[in-house]
Amino acid sequence: SKINLIFANGEKMPAVGLGTWRAPDAEVEAALNAALEAGYRHIDCAPVYGNEKVIGKVFKEWISSEKLKRSDLFICTKLPPFGNRASDVEKCLKKSLADLELEYLDLFLIHVPFAVPYTEGPLLKDDNGDLLLSDTDHVETWKELERFQSAGLIKHIGISNFNERQIQRLLDNCVVKPEVLQVEMHVYLQQKELVAFCKANNILITAYSPLGSKGYDKVLAASGVVRELPNLLENSVIVEVANRIGKSPAQVLLRYLLELGVSVIPKSTNAGRLRSNIDLFDFSLSASDKDAIAALDANVRVVDFKFFAGIHKHPEFPFNA
Ligand code: A2P
Repeated sequence: SKINLIFANGEKMPAVGLGTWRAPDAEVEAALNAALEAGYRHIDCAPVYGNEKVIGKVFKEWISSEKLKRSDLFICTKLPPFGNRASDVEKCLKKSLADLELEYLDLFLIHVPFAVPYTEGPLLKDDNGDLLLSDTDHVETWKELERFQSAGLIKHIGISNFNERQIQRLLDNCVVKPEVLQVEMHVYLQQKELVAFCKANNILITAYSPLGSKGYDKVLAASGVVRELPNLLENSVIVEVANRIGKSPAQVLLRYLLELGVSVIPKSTNAGRLRSNIDLFDFSLSASDKDAIAALDANVRVVDFKFFAGIHKHPEFPFNA
């Protein structure tokens, strides 16, 4: 498996990036500093994670002190659901660039296929307390991403949490094809069909929640949803392989995905864990171990968006299925 995935124009996306979802301001500054020290160059951000200003401050420190050049970094952020329409792309993109203290992004993704009304405060709800949704036309939004790519504000453009039908519609109606799909992907949700579809269409994949997003149950609990999550890190097959080859369960989970040819963005705010999560290039998995891990695929989706009340009524729910 390779250290970089390669775009059609030859530019690179580092195969291992740092996830920043559920990395609160109080932790993300130290975590990002530790990650950059450990060699992370690909950082995955989003305005809805609520931490872009702190992240931007760290980027600025590293670049202005010349510890890193801007071109050493590969920075992704996303068009939020409250900006998911053509008329809001420019202001959302410029807000993220300002918060991240950057002149351009390496990758800009439409975060989710659904849209909610624009707001700078809490998301709006309907009379039942459900999240208020609004219509959106992905093709019209995409044209704005193309426009800002031409203008040099974004190097690469893509989508996240889109399904095959939604991606096909962009392929059929747009000038620039989506270059990256970011979706939930891990050993319990191996996304075989979507991976084949993306490969056939030259779309690179980034796997989010590659470790199973331990802690997502707390996000749900904060919205009153009780759910027990699968624990990939304690799966007996994973633990057995890890012990036998002298690696951690997380390293086995991540290495398996790298060997499928996708990029991974494990989140950690712990310096030791984030160092080990990028230390994946001095070992490989045997064919029989890969077969055993392939058999763990169980169509188990962790990120169900149910922290948004009523989201299951959306016609495209569950997203990226
Ligand atoms: P922490 O930030 O305390 O390290 P995912 O990337 O799939 O969303 O998973 C992130 C979760 O997994 C976080 O709760 C993170 O906690 C934890 N995590 C990250 N790296 C490791 C690791 N190497 N071993 C165990 N848990 C990890």
